[in-house]
Amino acid sequence: MRKPLIAGNWKMHKTLDDARELVTGIVDGVGKLGASDGVEVLICTPFTLLFPIAKALANTPVMFGAQNAHEEAQGAFTGEVSVPMLKDTGCTHVIIGHSERRHVFGEKNDRLAKKVRAVVDAGLTVIYCVGETLDEREAGKTREVIESQMGEVIDSDVLADRLVVAYEPVWAIGTGKTASPEQAQEVHGWVRASLASTYDKTTADGVRILYGGSVKPGNAAELLSLPDVDGALVGGACLVASDFIAIISAAAASVPA
Ligand code: 13P
Repeated sequence: MRKPLIAGNWKMHKTLDDARELVTGIVDGVGKLGASDGVEVLICTPFTLLFPIAKALANTPVMFGAQNAHEEAQGAFTGEVSVPMLKDTGCTHVIIGHSERRHVFGEKNDRLAKKVRAVVDAGLTVIYCVGETLDEREAGKTREVIESQMGEVIDSDVLADRLVVAYEPVWAIGTGKTASPEQAQEVHGWVRASLASTYDKTTADGVRILYGGSVKPGNAAELLSLPDVDGALVGGACLVASDFIAIISAAAASVPA
């Protein structure tokens, strides 16, 4: 039984005061919901907020993580942050391969493979993102793209216990367009099949696959009810505490009693 994970990707949003206010709203909401037994809740903030957020989240069930990391532990890489530095903050998760890293910052599968390893080998959990562009979908290449993003990055030496995959169709990110339930389930099935061929079926069945791309309170329940959708990676809606809580609540309701 895979426990749903609702992860908020704050992207490049929030200065400290606004962040504290949002975190207070999330912690209060999670507390009122009493959902922390059935659902894991994570926020992935900008680097600057990790230390203060660690303090704000101490003794709460809400976890925190980062949105990127460099593959090397240290070195002359101006402007970069390494996994050991992230570990210092107490964070538990790192997003790697988000479509904005792939398409805005030009990160490719070979580099992402090194980043995934750096995160997992340091004992943190990676949220590895895959997803096709609109052109790729319209050209009928979705499966091929997903399989290469999985196959070229996830080897059997990546500890599956520390792996979460997020399927985020690029055309659904920040656009208000969401994959239909059929589209989401189909791709999640391909991701799970790829995991089964890399590891084995039992291991693949234990890995959570999140859906991301315009997840909102109004569509979360339907997406989270799909058999291979084990949570959500939420962008815009995670910046408003009440919306994020509504999505967490939908996840809690999707867990069989
Ligand atoms: P939106 O929820 O704003 O579409 O963003 C999705 C996303 O990129 C999460 O990582």
